[in-house]
Amino acid sequence: MMSTIDLRSDTVTKPTDEMRKAMAEAKVGDDVYGEDPTVIELEQLAAEITGHEAALFVCSGTMGNLVSLLTHCNRGEGVVLGFKSHIYNNEGGGLSALGGLVPLCVNDDQGIPDHNEILSYCRDENVHYTPAKLLCLENTHNACGGIAISPDRFSSVVDLARSKGLLVHLDGARIFNAAIAWGVEPKTYTEIVDSVQFCLSKGLGAPIGSLICGKRDYINRAKHWRKRVGGGLRQAGVIAAAGLIALNNYADLKYDHEKAKVLKDILKNGGVKVVDVFKPTNMVYFDLNDDVDVIQLANSCKRRGLLFNPTFPRVRLVTHRDVTFEDVEMAAKIILEELS
Ligand SMILES: Cc1ncc(COP(=O)(O)O)c(C=O)c1O
Repeated sequence: MMSTIDLRSDTVTKPTDEMRKAMAEAKVGDDVYGEDPTVIELEQLAAEITGHEAALFVCSGTMGNLVSLLTHCNRGEGVVLGFKSHIYNNEGGGLSALGGLVPLCVNDDQGIPDHNEILSYCRDENVHYTPAKLLCLENTHNACGGIAISPDRFSSVVDLARSKGLLVHLDGARIFNAAIAWGVEPKTYTEIVDSVQFCLSKGLGAPIGSLICGKRDYINRAKHWRKRVGGGLRQAGVIAAAGLIALNNYADLKYDHEKAKVLKDILKNGGVKVVDVFKPTNMVYFDLNDDVDVIQLANSCKRRGLLFNPTFPRVRLVTHRDVTFEDVEMAAKIILEELS
């Protein structure tokens, strides 16, 4: 049988045998009562790694961001965030639909909000204006090529926001990829923000789950929002057990970056218009010529066992633990042949 090389996302990773065993054997309790020892252990580890007082296990990255924003802001308050951010584009508008929050969008073409545009929303109080309360950052930045933002650029935007009285939330779905790309501890990014959400179910390979980290009082308030949106889970230790293994092995993400580099180099040498990113991670984006039918291309690649999402004109390929170096070489070969 032909094996499949799935480069649609790092979310397609399946739990390992080690994770499945840990899940089967997990010590559990009712987490809404705060009695699940495995969830407690995972939350403590997350808080320690991110340099925060406390953490909260939630179902997904989307829930993590939503609960974080609703905990920071009240109805009618403004959230400064990038036009290309995942929170603005890919989370169903939850901040407005469920929280009555107002997105104040800024240019983030370089992967991080522009200083002057952030300042344009930091205005004196006036009944006509939406009061800006929170700045959201994303690192790595998915839609900007999976770029890892440098610690310096990141902290300069955080400092700017703080000097204007804004709180800062980090959508760190892939923050460990960013830390590895820059060779720094995750804390370098996470301990300087008011809250961070990171995902266990992307390159880290756990089946389900994200964590929100912040001050203890903040996490206690976030617990109410998690319950309100239906995220209070009972014997969640069954999934937290896989999360613990994922989190303890975050350093392995470096292999995903190496695979992406192999893929990128072969495509680029073959004449494909690969998007160059200053500090790439586990994503490779490339642009198609106007005359390419991306649906046809994706279908013919699929017949040969390669999966990617048929977006036009820019295609994204994501490397992860469930593809090998040989797989990415084969993927590049298939794409080059189908494009020729
Ligand atoms: C940057 C970013 N933030 C948040 C999310 C949301 O995570 P989830 O799919 O677990 O809701 C994603 C998902 O791909 C993402 O890429």
